[in-house]
Amino acid sequence: EPVLADSVVEYIGHPLAAVAAETMDIARSAAARIEVDYEVLEPILTIEEALEHEYYVADPMIMRRGDAASALNTAPHRLAGEVSCGGQDHFYLEGHIALAVPGEDQDMIVYSSTQHPTEVQHRVGHVLGVPSNAVTIELRRMGGAFGGKESQSTIIAAIAAVLARVSAKPVKLRLTRDDDMTVTGKRHDFLFRYEVGFDGNGTIQAVDMLLGARAGNVADLTTSVLTRSLCHADNCYYIPNALFRGYPCKTNTVSNTAFRGFGGPQGMIAIEEIIEHIARHLGLDVDTVRRRNYYGSGERDTTHYGMRVTDNIITDIIDQLEREVDITLWRATVDAWNRDNPVVKKGLAMMPIKFGISFNAPSLNQAGALVHVYTDGSVHLNHGGTEMGQGLYTKVAQVVAETFQIDIDTIKISATTTAKVPNTSATAASSGSDLNGMAAFNAASTIKDRMTEVAAQHFDVGVDEIHFADNRVYAGNQSVSFCELAELTWRNRVSLSATGFYRTPDIHWDVATLKGRPFYYFSYGVCVSEVAIDTLTGETKVTRSDILQDCGSSLNPTIDLGQIEGAFIQGMGWVTMEELCWNDAGRLMTHGPSTYKIPGSRDVPTIFNVHILKDAPNREPTIFRSKAIGEPPLMLAISIWLAIRDAVAHLTDYRHHVQLNSPATPERILTAIEDIRARDGGTATTK
Ligand code: MTE
Ligand code: HPA
Ligand code: MOS
Repeated sequence: EPVLADSVVEYIGHPLAAVAAETMDIARSAAARIEVDYEVLEPILTIEEALEHEYYVADPMIMRRGDAASALNTAPHRLAGEVSCGGQDHFYLEGHIALAVPGEDQDMIVYSSTQHPTEVQHRVGHVLGVPSNAVTIELRRMGGAFGGKESQSTIIAAIAAVLARVSAKPVKLRLTRDDDMTVTGKRHDFLFRYEVGFDGNGTIQAVDMLLGARAGNVADLTTSVLTRSLCHADNCYYIPNALFRGYPCKTNTVSNTAFRGFGGPQGMIAIEEIIEHIARHLGLDVDTVRRRNYYGSGERDTTHYGMRVTDNIITDIIDQLEREVDITLWRATVDAWNRDNPVVKKGLAMMPIKFGISFNAPSLNQAGALVHVYTDGSVHLNHGGTEMGQGLYTKVAQVVAETFQIDIDTIKISATTTAKVPNTSATAASSGSDLNGMAAFNAASTIKDRMTEVAAQHFDVGVDEIHFADNRVYAGNQSVSFCELAELTWRNRVSLSATGFYRTPDIHWDVATLKGRPFYYFSYGVCVSEVAIDTLTGETKVTRSDILQDCGSSLNPTIDLGQIEGAFIQGMGWVTMEELCWNDAGRLMTHGPSTYKIPGSRDVPTIFNVHILKDAPNREPTIFRSKAIGEPPLMLAISIWLAIRDAVAHLTDYRHHVQLNSPATPERILTAIEDIRARDGGTATTK
């Protein structure tokens, strides 16, 4: 991937030159004077066009189990359909930014807003032609990232570094919001075409599905995103015969990239559409069809990519939520509302989720940490993870505090730097605390073991009799403070510094067959949402959402609640109002907050009940049996899209399948209403 366009500009907005100046204004006016002669080429802009021309950034990816073609032929019922979902701009409050500071020799320090300092280090080294040991990347925190800074920050940092090298001065590159939205990647929009075979109960026998992802001009992370889509196009459902065909479509638009959920949300939208389609066709309740298809025991516990679902709690968690919210009563209230109100209609829908935790490339599932204890008992902590508002630094510091049994404010969480913890993975795939928490635990445990030996000698007892509690270290009735023991350890000439390392066990993945156990475990959750739609304007309001989310044994329930709420609202934006529009020439027209609408505080559901599943430790030995939380709850917002569809389906008494893509904007909802009424012969009821 070239940092700047070379001879061919691949999309409108593709950066092709960079200017450094003493002030931002001078740089901007100089850049404005650059004249470019373009010869306009014929672009490929849409997924459909790319599919037609077989224009891809990588080979198509086929994931299969059984024989979908013959199972479709023999199935009692068979349906075909098409649905699409839009992309999404990350809209982090802090846009992309890098400050490159040249040092002595060939050295370069780059302060970069990035989820992936190591990849920035590699790319900066590459463009400068220097080894990794000459490049240091550092950051204390990002003002939000959401996947947008997993790979994309490399370009910003590389440009800043080149300009810093040629000018021999520090260079800061900060994109304006409009430039940021134009030149950096977004969530992949997808097109799905499917055929499903099922029996009279709604039990799925086969699915053949095309998943077309818009990659944009280069591959970036598209094949990984598509892999995750292929692995989540089952959601919680057992599909005995599956043929999932993934196409990484190349288009002359900005390269799409990681975004919270990383292809998972897209795959799940597709299968949820299929479940709903089956229900409408058979005249069954959607939740009934869901129940008939959940993963179970025996052969029904294995995914289409060969991983067994051994930690399945989806029906337990749904049962618990259904009991707590009394869904039958809720449905009756919605029905009553719809009988009494001719214009504003309500819809209700559930969304269960099963989300795989681990990077789908096994090699990425590793982390390092560095812990120093000083002789005054204060602790200096580094790990390879990055902080973007998700609370990772707090969680990792908690792990160290818990290990040493000391107060968290004794611990200095210092900036992430490639000079202290090398060869890291991106803080992504929700695995930041799983990986870095465990690496920090291992580092702290090494030091604790050494301190324990010193204490045992000091008190003349066995190591088993030493225990750490309340900032002190005890041997029976005797004790010293943690800092006294630190001092004593130093005097005994025992090291108070250690690195820690962690690799996720038991995972494997075969990229040729797309089979294996890519995930260490699954995270589960369920949400029921109620929406009101205005059938005259297409406007919607989420009137209530109830969430029950699995966090294992939560490391920090307050942070996790924040993550659940934030992810859910971000997902709500994706399925309802955030719409990326390109004109016919391929120019992105929605590149600022005036044209691209993210949810505001008033869009939050009127009633919003969020709960963490209790007494549900991770069955795998993760750090303190916790589970990852960053991405999974985003997909719970698909319940809103489904509830809107439920409200539209009500208009013709649930006789017809709703044709409505995501995002369900007012325009699309009005079109869906017209469409469903027309299919009902224009005699639609508004009862
Ligand atoms: N929360 C905030 N406040 N800001 C963010 O940028 N990114 C999300 C999620 N939560 C994000 C966030 C994404 S995409 C991921 S993968 C995880 O945080 C990454 O952090 P974790 O692995 O430590 O959960
Ligand atoms: N999630 C996020 N980022 C990634 C992944 C993933 O599964 N794989 C590679 N980069
Ligand atoms: Mo998150 S999309 O894995 O950075």
